[in-house]
Amino acid sequence: MHRRTISLLLLTLLVATALTAQGSQDSQAPRDARAESGTGGSPLPIPPLADATTNGAGELVYDLDIREGSQSFPGAPGAGARAVETLGYNGDFLGPTIRLSRGDAVRLRVTNGLDEPTTTHWHGALVPAEADGGPHQIIEAGERWEAAFTVSQPAATLWYHPHLDGETARHVYMGLAGMIIVDDEMSERLELPNRYGRDDIPLILQEREFDRDGGFAYRPAMPDVMHGIAGNALLVNGAIEPAFAARDELVRLRVLNGSNSSVLRVSFADGTPFRIIASDGGFLASPVEMTQMDLSPGERFEILVAVDPRSTPSDPMVLEAQSNLSGSYRALSIYADGQLAASAAPPQRLAEVLPIPGPVIERRSFVMSTMGPSGTLTINGETMDMSRIDERVPLDQTELWTIENAAGGMGGRGRMGGGMGGMMAVPHSFHVHGVQFQVESINGRRPPAHLAGWKDTVLLWPDESVVIRVRFADHTGIFMYHCHFLEHEDNGMMGQIMVVARE
Ligand code: C2O
Ligand code: CU
Ligand code: CU
Repeated sequence: MHRRTISLLLLTLLVATALTAQGSQDSQAPRDARAESGTGGSPLPIPPLADATTNGAGELVYDLDIREGSQSFPGAPGAGARAVETLGYNGDFLGPTIRLSRGDAVRLRVTNGLDEPTTTHWHGALVPAEADGGPHQIIEAGERWEAAFTVSQPAATLWYHPHLDGETARHVYMGLAGMIIVDDEMSERLELPNRYGRDDIPLILQEREFDRDGGFAYRPAMPDVMHGIAGNALLVNGAIEPAFAARDELVRLRVLNGSNSSVLRVSFADGTPFRIIASDGGFLASPVEMTQMDLSPGERFEILVAVDPRSTPSDPMVLEAQSNLSGSYRALSIYADGQLAASAAPPQRLAEVLPIPGPVIERRSFVMSTMGPSGTLTINGETMDMSRIDERVPLDQTELWTIENAAGGMGGRGRMGGGMGGMMAVPHSFHVHGVQFQVESINGRRPPAHLAGWKDTVLLWPDESVVIRVRFADHTGIFMYHCHFLEHEDNGMMGQIMVVARE
């Protein structure tokens, strides 16, 4: 039954893909192989936890070495097992998970072993501007950069990735990304699965375009910049259609959409519900039961999944991810590995999510659009300029920001390009560094419960408008805001905030 649904869906999406993404000439891999090519079963890779040493200043020191690597991706479309040139942190592809506790003094030492500059940004982390790892903290080839800060935010799932202006998309695509887990008293006290790799599992989802020899390279054509690179495979922690052998009744998945420009709709193939317990910046007030969730690039949700005790390797629970750019992927199989160990019943209350207090002192507006015949990607009509400060925002001031995806009235929730006056109906997102915000409204309505917690990235489909409540409370200095569709970000859809001390 659901196979047929998928095929129909695929057909529809293939037409849409043909219309909107003619740019991917490199891909000759059969597109209909996508949902069916189930090799099903290599074990889900779990990124290792990064080791720390303690230095004389009492800081936990983590070393991240950026290097070139090569890795094969069995099950990929095309020739399959050929080794692909990749980039990784401390390895060939992706990086270790950095697990921090609130209150820790940490020092992250990043060594750039590439022959080109890059940066490493701690997405979602509330750190001093000079430790942020954005476009201003360039690490030249062969150099080392150190970010020192005290972990001062609540428990959350964050991540790290390069952020060099103009090169972010390629660096991430080739493999530079990793997860950060922050624990605090609350996350330790709540009875939630928290054994890393056993019942607390990171899932980095990344759509990729494999070519006919089973490799992938970063070669976006102009339409790919606008629409995103339609892929033909979904990597889950760097593997294709892996399987997870569950040993416990309840599993917590920390889901990150690490794709460049794909919006992923994640669900179980048979509609099994799951409970969302956390969004980008930490716990929700209480678990929200859902059957599907959308993640734009950079967004995270933590979910609890009740493992079906009857699931087996040959008849697993199937987590799917449907990309707005291509089709539906079988992301992960989950099966009961023998008798499941009992898990504690999850709490009904998680954290208190207090509204950012008023009064609202300032309102700002950010219009995201593509301008002119060439489709220049702009925010408030401007493209990114490292020497321009776009907004000056005082610390400890509550503000309401209205963000609009100005698609020229052509969009709705569809994806077809070619709007009026050179505007294009493509989704965007809005991400801010140095702060976690709250979504006040989406198209004038209160956000759904799973978007009502702490966020650092919010999705805007064409013609949507979102109001966020923002209050920088931690650090002064320059912080970025941008569309997190990396092709858009690299092509100008980014601006700079100077957070200043309040007078
Ligand atoms: Cu995930 Cu400005 O970054
Ligand atoms: Cu960020
Ligand atoms: Cu965008």
